[in-house]
Amino acid sequence: MSGEPLQGASEYEIDVSVRGREVWSAWEVRQLQGNDEVDMEQYAIKGGNPLVGEVEIGGAKNAALGVLAAAIMTDEMTVIDNIPDVRDINVLLQAMESIGVIVYRTDRHTVRINASMISGLVVEDDYIKKIRASYYLLGALLGKYKHAEVALPGGCNIGSRKIDLHIKGFKALGASVKIEHGLIIADAQHLRGAHIYLDTVSVGATINIMLAAALAEGKTVIENAAKEPHVVDVANFLNSMGANVKGAGTDVIRVSGVRKLHGSEYPIIPDQIEAGTFMFAAAITKGDVTVKNVIPKHLESMTAKLIEMGCQVEESGDAVRVVASKRLESTHVKTLAYPGFPTDMQPQIAVSLALARGTSIVTESIFDNRFKYVDELAKMGSNIKVEGNTAIIEGVDKFTSANLTAPDLRAGAALVLACLTAEGFSTIDDIKYIGRGYEDFEVKLQSLGAQIEKVSSDKDLQKFKLKVG
Ligand code: UD1
Repeated sequence: MSGEPLQGASEYEIDVSVRGREVWSAWEVRQLQGNDEVDMEQYAIKGGNPLVGEVEIGGAKNAALGVLAAAIMTDEMTVIDNIPDVRDINVLLQAMESIGVIVYRTDRHTVRINASMISGLVVEDDYIKKIRASYYLLGALLGKYKHAEVALPGGCNIGSRKIDLHIKGFKALGASVKIEHGLIIADAQHLRGAHIYLDTVSVGATINIMLAAALAEGKTVIENAAKEPHVVDVANFLNSMGANVKGAGTDVIRVSGVRKLHGSEYPIIPDQIEAGTFMFAAAITKGDVTVKNVIPKHLESMTAKLIEMGCQVEESGDAVRVVASKRLESTHVKTLAYPGFPTDMQPQIAVSLALARGTSIVTESIFDNRFKYVDELAKMGSNIKVEGNTAIIEGVDKFTSANLTAPDLRAGAALVLACLTAEGFSTIDDIKYIGRGYEDFEVKLQSLGAQIEKVSSDKDLQKFKLKVG
């Protein structure tokens, strides 16, 4: 490949339909029916209610993407549970089906996967080009069949997202990698274990190299590996299939290649970002929310910030309760690889700090264009100045309602939180981005007392206004 950096796709752009499975989400059904209204859907929100109650967190999208790709590395049946019903997952499943993987969704959150009859090693399904995690099929197919051709992830909207480290890893394992006609083509006679140092901590590269190395000959050492919970989850799943992966969760991962992987039943870990989003929803609305079915340790960086901001946070078993009884206090935060504060929570904390007392500084150190929601938030009266990768936030007393557009997945969710605090009616367009990573977002918020609805016409919007007064 040339030395030019590749512009990776963000996890935030997609527009898909899904075919060939047994159980459909409401969103998928609408897609299959060709209902154009999907694109016209907005959130209508009347802010002002503190969120109160309990909310159940689903499986981690980013872990599930890696685990599902890993599942095609065995010819035996795998059963993956706690899969979130979100678009990115459904697109990956569709791409797997496009190469002959049999995907049977036994219920909304469980899939049975049989990859014994894969009929092609070229994944160029139109939709897969738009999700970042399509690259996991490269590592999985290369490991199993020593050949893979996967469409390059497309555009980019949170900054440059390269894949040079993935390619460096595959090459170190003995594969040749080239890019032709929009496909990344990886090929190897044999894959042999290698010592690989990642120049930057990359979740995607760590998982992808782990996948390929699981079926390589000999030992692979990945240094400066990502330590995110989803890296550990994929390693645990590989091990449950008979792989030999040690050290996941530390910055050195050792993989001893095995000849074959076998079937497994595996539940995906809870989604730390969905959990974090609801924790900040409690904080920003001065609410009292218990997020259930979480691993509190995965949430520690967010818990620490919420405490600095004046919230009470109580951990108990697999739940975390966030109580915010007074105005939030300012603080500073810098996004970092795990266990640092996650970049996927940066918009949600920034929106909360935009209402805190005093000046806060938010530094984005992972991606270079992740403040696009700031212009939208300005419509609500926020006072944020962005300089390079830093946002200087002067807290304001309140937000005013506005008509907004979601720029991407996490920023979209953050704008929802902002609207939940604003008096009067707000709308958010392009909520398809939010559906990429949050299952039933508005339903879960409604159960906590939020006045939010998905509407797809002016008539629906008027009805909502009449209903909530
Ligand atoms: C994953 C997550 C995403 C999250 C991000 C950071 C998935 C599907 N997505 O994305 O939600 O925001 O981790 O926690 O799990 N980099 C390179 N070369 C590479 C790969 C990455 O320079 O080959 C750089 C990126 O430009 C970025 C940094 O490394 O600056 C981290 O990226 P990475 O951890 O790879 O993010 P993703 O795996 O794309």
